[in-house]
Parts: sequence; structure tokens; C-alpha cells
Amino acid sequence: MTSRGDDPPRGLSRRAFLRGGAAAGVLSTGLLRGVPPVEAAPAAAPKSEAGVPILGPGPVAIKLRVNGQEVALRLEPRVTLLDALRTRLELTGAKKVCDRGTCGACTVLLDGKAVYACSVLALEAQGGDVRTVESLGSVERMHPLQAAFVDHDAQQCGFCTPGFVMAAKALLDRNPSPSLAEIHHGLAGNFCRCGTYAGIRRAVLQLAEAGAANPDYAPGLPGAPEPGEIENPRPRRQKNKKRKKPRGTGDG
Ligand code: FES
Ligand code: FES
Repeated sequence: MTSRGDDPPRGLSRRAFLRGGAAAGVLSTGLLRGVPPVEAAPAAAPKSEAGVPILGPGPVAIKLRVNGQEVALRLEPRVTLLDALRTRLELTGAKKVCDRGTCGACTVLLDGKAVYACSVLALEAQGGDVRTVESLGSVERMHPLQAAFVDHDAQQCGFCTPGFVMAAKALLDRNPSPSLAEIHHGLAGNFCRCGTYAGIRRAVLQLAEAGAANPDYAPGLPGAPEPGEIENPRPRRQKNKKRKKPRGTGDG
């Protein structure tokens, strides 16, 4: 019979072999009285790789500039800008809907550009100027864009509205008088499940015609398009009509 690897060496009884093994186990774990436990030296974590600093996985100190204020936070590097705004800074205007860069409900401005806050790490936003819908106005003193949304009933449940407002703000900041087609294109990254697109476009178009920078804007400004005046920029698909057979071409 072939010998197994755990058979006692020749000349050593099985009992003596087991006793020796148990003693060795105790020694190796440092539990024998008088023997200090041997601790494995922690592996030195690499601080950078290819010149790129490695952070985390624990919380790290970061600084953000949000709505004109500097804030210092400790966050795990994986935390998104959206979660930092909502859960740490209690700025809940930006909404968390898809959390994967699809719906636009979380839109904020980063250095004047509309971004999905769910798709930007808080760490990445350091050094930038973050603006949320809270920076625009209050219920008592609405920003003209917010007033235009109210004026045109541009929301139902309102969940998508802050994202649309910020996307529209970014659009109007870079192009104060966009055409309807440009508005359509500029808001293409935002979805409204209640289907309030027509009202939203009317609101933005009204502001575009009034001049986005006009501080004296008041709802009902002359020249604002009325419901139904704006054509749907997405033409309806024509249903395939059955072709009529020309007369006299029948088989019979
Ligand atoms: S929650 Fe960010 S795009 Fe939908
Ligand atoms: S108003 Fe409800 S999702 Fe847009």
C-alpha cells in the first residue's frame, strides 16, 4: 500500500506525531504562554500608480465648491456627486431616479456645463463650480426660468423638473435665444415620464424670446407663445396607407 502524505514518519508512533503537530500549531499562533503573537507586517499600500494617486477605499478628505460655498467633507472615493449633494449636504433638488446617466433628473451645472450628478464622482468635482437648482431662486423669489415653468404648467409630478430647469439654464447661458429646434436638442438628455415636454419647451422658448438675462421678466410677458402655437418638432410618423389598385388592372 502506498503511504499518504499525512502518515507519521517511520520510527514515530501516530500518537507522538499528533502530539507534536498540536504543539507546533499552538506555537505558530503564539498562544503558548510567554510567546508573543507573531503579527504579519501590513503590506505597504501603493500610494500611486503610473503617477496617478491611489485613494481609498476608506473615506478621504475632499473639498467642493457648491452654490458658491466651500465645503469640506470626508467621503469614500466611490461616492457620486449626487449622493454627496443629497445625503451629505442636504441639497435634494437634484433627484436620484435611474442613477446611471439615463434620465437627467440629477442634472446640475459643473463649471457651467450640465452634467448628470449621478455619473460624476464627488472627487472629480473638486476644483469645479457646482451649481444646483437651489442656487437659482426661492419660492418667494423665483428665477425667471422657474417662473416660466410655473407659468406654462411645465410639470406634473415635478420629479424631473429640477433637472430640466438646470439643463435649460445651461442651454440659455450659452445661447440666450435658442430656436425651438435648439431647445429640443439642448433638453434631449432629460426625460419626463409625465410627458410635459410641450410645456417645458414653451417655458424655455418664452424665456428665449424675452432674453434669458432679462431680470425684469414677469410671467405672461408679451410675445410668449400660447399653448398650441408651437409645432411639435418631432413630426408624427405617417401610417402606411394601403395602396389602391389602379382601376382596370385586375386579373379578371
Ligand atoms: S439619476 Fe442621474 S441620469 Fe438619472
Ligand atoms: S413631471 Fe413627472 S416626470 Fe416630469
